[in-house]
Amino acid sequence: MTVSSAPGKVYLFGEHAVVYGEPAVPCAVERRATVTVSARDDDHVRVRAEDLSLNGFTVEYRGSTGDRPDVDVPAPLVEAAMGYIDAAVDQARDAADAPDAGFDITVESDIPLGAGLGSSAAVVVAGIDAATRELGVELAPREIAEHAYQAEHEVQDGQASRADTFCSAMGGAVRVEGDDCRTIDAPPLPFVIGFDGGAGDTGALVSGVRALREEYDFAADTVSTVGDIVRRGEELLAEADPDADDAPEELLSELGRFMNFNHGLLEALGVSSRSLDSMVWAAREAGAYGAKLTGAGGGGCIVSLDPTPETQTALRFTPGCEDAFRAELATEGVRVEVPPEADAEGEAERAGDGEHTGADSA
Ligand code: PMV
Repeated sequence: MTVSSAPGKVYLFGEHAVVYGEPAVPCAVERRATVTVSARDDDHVRVRAEDLSLNGFTVEYRGSTGDRPDVDVPAPLVEAAMGYIDAAVDQARDAADAPDAGFDITVESDIPLGAGLGSSAAVVVAGIDAATRELGVELAPREIAEHAYQAEHEVQDGQASRADTFCSAMGGAVRVEGDDCRTIDAPPLPFVIGFDGGAGDTGALVSGVRALREEYDFAADTVSTVGDIVRRGEELLAEADPDADDAPEELLSELGRFMNFNHGLLEALGVSSRSLDSMVWAAREAGAYGAKLTGAGGGGCIVSLDPTPETQTALRFTPGCEDAFRAELATEGVRVEVPPEADAEGEAERAGDGEHTGADSA
């Protein structure tokens, strides 16, 4: 048995524009997905998903998920979760040159699904790390990021940037511009996240922005203006002292202003929603330095900057906000929680385990 975890992320700046080659700055946050992988003696893959903001389910399938399991949970959620895990399994098999490897996989995550916090990237990154280690191969975080990107790219029909997967694998603040991915220094930023309990359809939202951009020059200009904001935001971070205990007020104030600007442009591109806007305004009125939606939009999460408790309290009383929490910058990306060699007892236990067949929903 091997256990790995990887963090979710917020976009400080640049979602959507990153799809068109503009830079983006995502920051990993301390909400993690944890994936437990045990190699099997056959080529089956058995997946158990828990705490994914959907009902727990357990399914088993042979070799690949080509034969979709018949389980009693909403099909799109199963499809989505299984698609990412399937792609991660394929990448791990490729990386370890073990095309017939089978696994028992358990996924746990405290990152809301599809809500702009990079839940799928974190699951894919942690899954590839645990599965390759289980097969005796140790990949560097950058290699994990590459395989995870290939997995997301496949599941999202080519509509994925490298931002989520690179950020989750490396941790901290990162800068992504096309294929150029780097880690950057950032002081600790006081993120407060508001979640409306919903999720946006990333594919449809990306297609919507693409269509607007193709139809109107001013929409294309809006996308490049997001890029300008990102570049200015990056300069601010580069000038800041990464070892400071707290980010100075002037930095937060300027970053916040740029976040507000970025949100306005995303709103203009049609990817905000009433609940996201209402949480953004609640945060600003509570005294946050700035607030914006994070991720694809349409529903899900906003991110704001506020070192005081005010924004979190205000969000909790905001209609449409289901959860509000503080999230520290996660300086560590993917990490092994239980390495394979630590599991002599687990091996013995598995040898006595019964064979499960078919699908059982929990
Ligand atoms: O909602 P998320 O966390 O999957 O972020 C999507 C971000 C986009 O820029 C809209 C798409 C992408 O792949 O970068």
